[in-house]
Amino acid sequence: MKVDVLLGLQWGDEGKGKVVDVLTPKYDVVARFQGGPNAGHTLEFEGQKYVLRSIPSGIFQGDKVNIIGNGVVLDPALFKAEAEALEASGHPLKERLHISKKAHLILPTHRILDAAYEAAKGDAKVGTTGKGIGPTYTDKVSRNGVRVGDILHNFEQKYGAAKARHEQILKSLNYEYDLTELEKAWMEGIEYLKQFHFVDSEHEVNNYLKDGKSVLCEGAQGTMLDIDFGSYPFVTSSNTVCAGACTGLGVAPNRIGEVFGIFKAYCTRVGAGPFPTELFDETGDKMCTLGHEFGSVTGRKRRCGWIDLVALKYSVMINGVTKLIMMKSDVLDTFDIIKACVAYKVDGEEIDYFPYDITEGVEPVYAELPGWKTDMTKMQSEDEFPEEFNAYLTFLEEQLGVEIKIVSVGPDRAQTIERYTEE
Ligand code: GDP
Ligand code: IMO
Ligand code: MG
Repeated sequence: MKVDVLLGLQWGDEGKGKVVDVLTPKYDVVARFQGGPNAGHTLEFEGQKYVLRSIPSGIFQGDKVNIIGNGVVLDPALFKAEAEALEASGHPLKERLHISKKAHLILPTHRILDAAYEAAKGDAKVGTTGKGIGPTYTDKVSRNGVRVGDILHNFEQKYGAAKARHEQILKSLNYEYDLTELEKAWMEGIEYLKQFHFVDSEHEVNNYLKDGKSVLCEGAQGTMLDIDFGSYPFVTSSNTVCAGACTGLGVAPNRIGEVFGIFKAYCTRVGAGPFPTELFDETGDKMCTLGHEFGSVTGRKRRCGWIDLVALKYSVMINGVTKLIMMKSDVLDTFDIIKACVAYKVDGEEIDYFPYDITEGVEPVYAELPGWKTDMTKMQSEDEFPEEFNAYLTFLEEQLGVEIKIVSVGPDRAQTIERYTEE
């Protein structure tokens, strides 16, 4: 068997959680492979709304095994709050949520370091989620991290050494902080975590594949936030791209099957950094209002703009996307004109590839298509799609070279339309 990967093609918040939940019945196992509680994946069904941060979005459909892979960074305090809330709402987790021993722990001092580094950057700050993501991955790469498996062995000593090192850095930055409450909640989180199955997830996943079981890997963030290929330095600190599923779960590249690339019918970004198609007018405000574009983790207003096909083409290439999924098309239901960026103008010259740097001097060149001016939120099949909407889909497919297999017309699980396939 192969593993399928679902990941974001833009700057995150494309709707990954919703679609993972929709696709879960087709799989035996759902696994997260990178990121941490910087993610906020929203699911809506049966009148309930859930926001998941570290727990995979396959947790609501039957008794599927869900795995937090080695590439994830885990904050025990936030994990405890998330898991307890889910259990209280009638979704028992302990038997079917497995956590890699190799996943790195976000320490309370990582969160403080995140804030301290952001403060030190001043106007150049990244606008992180403040969850300690960067400092935790930094420690992982510099071989100073503390892992989930360490909880079982010599933990006090490992934690103490890391904390002492962080406190020295904070002192050198003259950063004032109070660790007491954070550390207390974190230690309670560590105790809570001990009730879960700590696993060698690379063995577990490969054994599932050997036994003919199917695995869906759930990405966090988006390709434009990837540490290597995103809009550096305004990115997150992990590989959000398809290759991240290999390193974040121990899956060999030749075991990757379908790559589902997910994007919004327009585009959003939260936090600082370049965004060529960003709108600063009432059209952008309308997208924000109709799309409820406020961060599910930080509550920050998301910046909105037209779809950027130059960036999307790049994402399709880097990830080897085999199937596209378009989200939030309903948000554009009332627009007269839909714009799509098909090229960038840089120094007076038009380019259709994603350049090294998009920080300055990149002007979007737009194609304009007629809006469909139809409420799509109650549609059940693609037979109901208006002509103008089909024209938009065809235009995007031609530009991106990959078929759009799923269209989402609202936040609810039921507002999801699979398109016919000719396979
Ligand atoms: P994720 O991080 O990729 O899982 O996405 P988020 O959950 O952060 O953000 C997506 C937001 O859009 C959530 O509030 C979803 O409930 C909502 N959403 C998902 N699909 C649709 C859709 O098709 N239409 C509308 N209007 N909202 C959607
Ligand atoms: P999901 O999985 C949108 C952004 C932050 C910031 C940058 C770095 O819900 O799509 P970090 O805390 O990771 O060091 O922040 O990345 N960011 C996200 N933006 N969706 C996310 O996750 C994000 N996770 C991080 O706003 O600009
Ligand atoms: Mg999100």
